[in-house]
Amino acid sequence: MTIQRICCIGAGYVGGPTMAVIADRCPQVRVQVVDINQARIDAWNDADLGKLPVYEPGLDSVVERARGRNLHFSTDVEASIAAADMVFISVNTPTKTKGLGAGQASDLRWVEACARTVAKAAKGHTIVVEKSTLPVRTAAAIQTILEAASEGEDQPTFSVLSNPEFLAEGTAIRDLETPDRVLIGGDDPAAVEALAEIYANWVPQQQILRTNLWSSELSKLTANAFLAQRISSINSIAAFCEASGADVREVARAIGTDSRIGLKFLNAGPGFGGSCFQKDILNLVYLCRHFGLPEVADYWESVVALNTWQQHRIARLVVQKLFGTVTGKRLAILGFAFKADTNDTRESPAIRICRDLLEEGAQLAIHDPKVTAQQIARDLQQEAAPQPDALSGTGSWAEAGSVEDAVTGADAVLVLTEWHHYKVLNWMALAALMRKPAWLFDARAVINPEQVRAAGLTLWRVGDGEG
Ligand code: NAD
Ligand code: UGA
Repeated sequence: MTIQRICCIGAGYVGGPTMAVIADRCPQVRVQVVDINQARIDAWNDADLGKLPVYEPGLDSVVERARGRNLHFSTDVEASIAAADMVFISVNTPTKTKGLGAGQASDLRWVEACARTVAKAAKGHTIVVEKSTLPVRTAAAIQTILEAASEGEDQPTFSVLSNPEFLAEGTAIRDLETPDRVLIGGDDPAAVEALAEIYANWVPQQQILRTNLWSSELSKLTANAFLAQRISSINSIAAFCEASGADVREVARAIGTDSRIGLKFLNAGPGFGGSCFQKDILNLVYLCRHFGLPEVADYWESVVALNTWQQHRIARLVVQKLFGTVTGKRLAILGFAFKADTNDTRESPAIRICRDLLEEGAQLAIHDPKVTAQQIARDLQQEAAPQPDALSGTGSWAEAGSVEDAVTGADAVLVLTEWHHYKVLNWMALAALMRKPAWLFDARAVINPEQVRAAGLTLWRVGDGEG
C-alpha cells in the first residue's frame, strides 16, 4: 500500500508544521491540510510568509518550497477526506472544563467530530492516524465510529493508527526533520508499513518504532509526564538552593553529568508552560484514578502542584522583596510566551505571575517580541489601560514596544521568557532609566549577573542561594 494523498484535519501548531515537513520531504505525495477555522487557513495561504499563523524558526522556508506544489491548505474538509488514502487527526484535545472529569480529562469532542466526518466522507480504504495526543484506548472509540460506517457493500473500510507527535515548539522544524524517533502504533501491519514508508523518506528505519496501539497512546502521555517531572524536580531543588546558599545550576551540572541522569531538561525557571504538559499529566492522573490507581494518580498530580506553586512563589517573592507592596509600582515584564522562539502563550508561566501581580495592584509594562497585545489581553482577562490613580490598588498593564520603553521608570524588571534578545541587553544603559532602588528578577537565569550588579541593580536569580 503506497500512500499518494494525505489529508490532515487541524491546521494548528502540530498539523501545519508536520504536514509542511512531510510535503517537503515527500514531493510525490499530495498533502492537503484542512481546518474549520477560515482565518487560520487564510493565514496559511497568505502570500506574506511573515503572516503564517504559527511562528517557528525555519517554517517559512519549508512552506515556501512546498506550498502550491504538493502542500495545500483549505476549509473543504469532506472533499479532502474523500480524496485521501490517509487522514491524520491533529485537532485540539484540551482539558475538559465541565462535566465528568472536568479539570483533568481530555475533551474529545473535536476528535470524535473528526471521526464522524471521516466516517461520512471517506471513500475506499482509508488509514486514519491519531496525531493528536489522546487518552489510552481512544483508538477503540474511533474504530467503533468508523466501523459503523463500514457496514454494507461498497462502504469505505478503515485502519486506525496512533502516531503521536513529539515536536517541541520553537524547535518544531528541527524536531520534525531530525526526530529522535517516530512512533507508530497499530494492529494492521500493512497500514503501519504504509505510514513508516512515508517517514522513511527522511528518517532512518531504526528510528521508526512500531508498537501496539495502546503502548503508542500511553508512550506520548508518559514522555510528557517524565519531561515535566524533571522540571518540577529541578524547580523544587531551586527553591531549596535559594534557602540553603547552593546554586541550582551547579547542582544541575553535578547531577546531569551522571550519564544515567543526563543534562537536558534541568533548567530551573518559572515553571513549565505550554499547551500540553499540564493537560497531559492531568489526563494521566484522571486515567489512573479511573483504573483504580489512586497512589499513581497522586504521584503525578504532585508534578503539576509543584509547578503551580513555583509560579505563585515567584510572584510572592517579588512583592516581598519590593518592601511588601507593589501597589502603584511599575514592573517591566520581559517575555510573555511560554518559551523562547514561539508566539504561543498557552499556560505560559507569565500569565499566572502577571495575574498575581495585577491582583497586588502593580502597573505592568509587558514586552514580548512575538506575542500580540490582543493575546496578552485575552490571557490576563483584562484590557490594556493606563491607571490614572496608581495608588488606587487596581492593577493595570500596557504593552511596551521595546525593552527600553518597558524599563523606563520601573522599580523592577522580571525576565519570564528566555528570548535571545534579553540575554544581550546593556544593563548599564537600562539601569539608568529605572527608578532607584531598582531590582532585576531573573526567573530564567539568562542575564549576566556581574553586569547587572555592576549596573547597580539588586539581582534575584531563580535557584541562586547567593542572590
Ligand atoms: P491547535 O489548537 O493549534 O490546532 C488544532 C486545530 O484543529 C485548530 O486550528 C482547530 O480549528 C482545528 N479543528 C478542531 N476541530 C476540527 C474539526 N472538527 N475539523 C477541522 N478542524 C478542526 O492545537 P495543536 O497545538 O496543533 O495540538 C493538536 C494536538 O497535538 C493536541 O492533541 C496536542 O496535545 C498535540 N500536540 C501538540 C504539540 C504542540 O507543541 N503544540 C506537540 C505535540 C502534540
Ligand atoms: C513539550 C515536549 O518537549 C514535546 O516533546 C511534546 O511534543 C510537546 O510538549 C507536546 O506534547 O506538546 P513544548 O511544550 O513545546 O514541548 O516545549 P518544551 O521545550 O518541552 O518546554 C515546555 C516548558 O518547560 C516551557 O515553559 C519551558 O520553558 C519549560 N522548561 C523546559 C523548563 O522550565 N526547563 C527546562 O529545562 C526545559
